[in-house]
Amino acid sequence: MNKNIPEISLQRLPVYLNYLRSLSGDDKKYISSGAIAAALGMGEVLVRKDLAYTSGVGRPKVGYVRAELIAALEEYLGCNIRKRAVLVGAGGLGRALLAYGGFEKYGIDVFEAYDSDPSKAGTEIAGKPVRPVEELFQLKGSDVRLAIVAVPAAAAQSVCDTLSEAGISGILNFAPVQLKAPGDVVVRNIDVAANLAVLSNML
Ligand code: NAI
Repeated sequence: MNKNIPEISLQRLPVYLNYLRSLSGDDKKYISSGAIAAALGMGEVLVRKDLAYTSGVGRPKVGYVRAELIAALEEYLGCNIRKRAVLVGAGGLGRALLAYGGFEKYGIDVFEAYDSDPSKAGTEIAGKPVRPVEELFQLKGSDVRLAIVAVPAAAAQSVCDTLSEAGISGILNFAPVQLKAPGDVVVRNIDVAANLAVLSNML
């Protein structure tokens, strides 16, 4: 399996996977790169190149066997390997993320949350326990590598520092602040507002 994939191609793989999963019926046993490209508004050559990273191989004239391509994408993206993740900041956004069932489709189990508000510690949100943030260090030595940060901007850097010390190596950051993390910790920022601003600029 080729893991030297450009990040931009990697980002498109879940888009292909979602689309392929959304199709159903016997008439959808095969699908061509052209059909995927047309449905997603992308170029066919680009789609073929992206899918080649996953070892998804199309057959001349018929295209890809949809089930095989889904399996190749799921394997490449590690959907079949369960990865545990925690959430820090069980406020408005955090609650919504804890209740979201979509992470499981990628093998990700957001199984617990941490918050600094003593009135939240000991409660459950969507069946997941909320723990005092002081207990974050207990993740050290566990198999948990992923964390979602949904705390106010002013608290995000110290949360990032604690997570890094606790052995977290991937942080999905919703706080509107540029986090400084050690070199072995990957931070991805999600900013819906900035995306809307870009979208609005394109109209
Ligand atoms: P909120 O105020 O409802 O929730 C924040 C939670 O973090 C609270 O439960 C609070 O007790 C907890 N908290 C505060 N300091 C903490 C610390 N040091 N350790 C652990 N928990 C701590 O805020 P909301 O609306 O849920 O937003 C959360 C963050 O997400 C904010 O930074 C906000 O700007 C950001 N946000 C980003 C969006 C995006 O598109 N990127 C969209 C919506 C919110």
